[in-house]
Formats: sequence, structure tokens, C-alpha cells
Amino acid sequence: MFFRNAFYRLFELLQILLFFYTVAAVFYTTTYFVIDPLQRRVSSAVSWTFLDVTEETIAVKPRFKNWTLFLESPDKTSLSWETSGMISDHPAHVYALDEDLFLSKAFSSSLHPSKIVPFFYRASGHFDQEDITITTIITSNRFQVFARLVERYRGPISVTIHVNNDTTHILDLLDSLETLYTSSPQMSRFVDVHLVVDFFDRQFNTWRNIARLFARTDFVMMLDIDFYLCTDFRTAIRNSKPIMEKLREGRAALVIPAFEYTTHEEGADYSTFPKTKEALKARVETKQIDMFHASWAPGHNSTDYERFYAASPGEVYQVTGYQSAYEPYVIFKADGPPWCDERFIGYGGNKAACLYEMYLSGISFYVLADHFLIHQNHAYEETIRKNERKSNKKLYSDFKEETCLKYLIAYHEKGLLNTTWGYNVQQACKNVRSVSKLFSQIISS
Ligand SMILES: *[C@@H]1O[C@H](CO)[C@@H](O)[C@H](O)[C@H]1NC(C)=O
Ligand SMILES: *[C@@H]1O[C@H](CO)[C@@H](O)[C@H](O)[C@H]1NC(C)=O
Ligand SMILES: *[C@@H]1O[C@H](CO)[C@@H](O)[C@H](O)[C@H]1NC(C)=O
Repeated sequence: MFFRNAFYRLFELLQILLFFYTVAAVFYTTTYFVIDPLQRRVSSAVSWTFLDVTEETIAVKPRFKNWTLFLESPDKTSLSWETSGMISDHPAHVYALDEDLFLSKAFSSSLHPSKIVPFFYRASGHFDQEDITITTIITSNRFQVFARLVERYRGPISVTIHVNNDTTHILDLLDSLETLYTSSPQMSRFVDVHLVVDFFDRQFNTWRNIARLFARTDFVMMLDIDFYLCTDFRTAIRNSKPIMEKLREGRAALVIPAFEYTTHEEGADYSTFPKTKEALKARVETKQIDMFHASWAPGHNSTDYERFYAASPGEVYQVTGYQSAYEPYVIFKADGPPWCDERFIGYGGNKAACLYEMYLSGISFYVLADHFLIHQNHAYEETIRKNERKSNKKLYSDFKEETCLKYLIAYHEKGLLNTTWGYNVQQACKNVRSVSKLFSQIISS
């Protein structure tokens, strides 16, 4: 009797335990597989700036339905600086600075209002500090070609995506962005996405600066999305002591020469692109492939394609014929070189201006003669381009004058104008109209 009772009790107890175990297991599984990922997704999307995500917002509101909240950032993060504490009565103290205030100064010469959302998606991968992050900018009609770049590079990528500030557009874009981002493991492993929400469709230089500012490695590559990476320059650079040394010094921008197919149709299919320099040269000889934008020679011809073809394996040569329209795709140190001037809006001169100021600051271009990129052809919006090119042409000529003055004075003050540091300013500025007279006065004073 006693045994039967005790046995029965034990059985009951086991049943109760089993019940609790089942409840706990169901709860845990639901949390682990459903609620947590949901929460993680929402909060990783929003953690840098905005939205305090409560259970309620997840339950009742589809994500970002209330997109105005997302733009107004009620839950602000702030950046902080520690004071020195050098005076004993004033102990070290952390000073907080509002993120929006900081970003408004960081991008103060861009058009406003503009909402910048850094790390809208943050890559899960851990990157070596000395790796090379590709920095680029895309619009939603180029997602496909971006996915291809990510698959091909398999290294860190920092991308700025512009979203026009229009309710339906934002929602659609965020949807297709999520589809893109979750489409491949490479994407979530390697790509950091920064958003810009405003009414300005082509602030290319601002977007470039954002991608570079939030890149998480010491070195960056400024690349246009349409290029196919034919060779593995990343490994080659990282395995070369002298090249890495040049990058670390911060006075070199490494050029990966750019090419394109001479007929539009052939250049559309990347799977047929050459992957070795021999194969490339063979197609250059048959005139299937030419330098990129051969019709606008100064854009790339400072790379000196003849020298590139003739170079022996492993060769790296310095660009000697720099001129102000040169706009190659380059790898450089993220911290140190000047940033892209944000007043260049739209097509024409925007990238050339970034590289012009870099050159004046004392950075020289070096061509990696084993490597190359090929443009994947697609249709352009030509009318917009024509008008913007006109206004940017005027801006670029003013920009050259003021940038020359700025660096002439800087190098003169530092007493470095007549050294190798000042050489680039001298070379590029002596022919800039209205600076040349002042130039001869400064240089002889
Ligand atoms: C976006 O549009 C909304 C509604 O028109 C406006 O209140 C907000 O200031 C805009 N934000 C930006 C960054 O343009
Ligand atoms: C590049 O093209 C420009 C314009 O056609 C020409 O003046 C210049 O000499 C060329 N430079 C090189 C290095 O080929
Ligand atoms: C720089 O070099 C020029 C000649 O190459 C010389 O006339 C000038 O005095 C030098 N200027 C300075 C500041 O050393």
C-alpha cells in the first residue's frame, strides 16, 4: 500500500515535471527561434539611432510602418569623449555628444535636411584591421550587380544606400533591401549597410564619405558598383610587405586599372570576362576590350595603359602623368587622406575632385600592373548627366583654385613646399589659372 502510494506520488510528480519541462521547452524554442531573431532583426536594424523597440511595437506594428518615428530618432544614441583629467580638481569626465549633432557637422557641406543611419545592417563577420574594405554607393536598381560584387569579393564591404524620402518608396526599398541582405550568407557576413534618407538623389560624394567613415578596417577601396573584380588584388596586396608598407605610410593610392568591352552587348555578361592579364591582353589586341571610357581619355589615361601592358609580373609603377580629370579606382588608407568634397552633387567631376585633393595633399598613385577591373555595361540616364556635368564643370574649376590655395599655403607654412611632399601641389597647381601668379610669389618667398 505504502509503496503503491509512494509510487503513485512519484508518478504524479514526474508528470508535473514533464508538464513544466514541455512548457519550458516550447517557451524556449519559441523565444530562441521566433521572438529573439525577430527582436534581434529589429534591434540590429535600429540600434544605432532610433526606436526603442518594445514588445508592443513588434506585436502590433509591422516593422517600419511608422517610418516617421524612424526618421525622427526619439531614442538617440550619443557619442562620448573622455576629458583628460589633467587637473586634479577636474577629474576625468565623459562628455556626451548627440549623434545627430555630430553627423550634421561631419557632413556639414552636404545638402540638408538629410537623415543618415549608420549600420542599418551590420555584417556579422570579424575583419582583420589591416584588411581592405570596398566602399561603394548604390541605388535600388543596382541591387543585382551589388550582390554579384559581394559574392565575388568575399571581404569587408561598406555601402551607402540612398532612400528617397517618400513613404511608399521607403517601405518598398526597405523590403527589397531586406530581401537582398538575407539572400546570401556572404551578404550578412561581409556587408555593412548605411542608409541616407532625404530628397537629394545624387549626392555621390557625401555617400562615398559615409561609406568610408564607417568602414571598419584600416584600408579602403573607392569603387563604382558596376565593375567586375577580375583578379584577386586583395590577397596580392595583403601578402606584399612593400605594398602594405606604402599603404600604412598613407601616401599611396593603389590604382586597379579599369577596362571595358568595346561593344555594349559583350560587356554585359561578366561570366565571359578575362581573369588573367594574358587573356585581357589578347582581347585588347583584337580590340574587343579597351581602356575604360576611351572616348574621355583623361579620365583614365594617366594610368598609362601602354606601360601596364608592357609591365612584368609583380610590377607596381608610379603614375607620372597625373592631371585633374584622372579618376581611377583606388585603394588607400581610411584615416588621413582628404575626404571627397561634398558640394559635388550629381554626375561630372565628383570622383575626380576626391582624387585631386588627395593628390594635392601629397598622395601619389601607384598602378598594380597584374590586376584589373572590367565595367559591366548597362544603360545610363543621359539627359540628367548632361546638365549636371555642366554645373559641376564650373564647380570643379573653382574647386581647383581654392584647393590649390589651401595646400600651397599649408605646405608653405610647414616649410615642405619644396620637398617631395609639396611636389604634387607644385606639379598640379602651377597651371591653375588665377593661382599661378600667387604661386610664384609664395614659392619664392
Ligand atoms: C522626410 O519627409 C517628412 C515628411 O514630408 C519630413 O517631415 C521630414 O523632415 C523629411 N526628412 C528628411 C530628412 O528629408
Ligand atoms: C591623356 O589624354 C589627354 C587628352 O586626350 C592627352 O592630352 C594626354 O596626353 C593623355 N595622357 C596620357 C598619359 O596618355
Ligand atoms: C623653392 O625652390 C625654388 C627653385 O626651385 C627656389 O627659387 C625657392 O626659393 C624655393 N623656395 C623655398 C621656400 O625654399
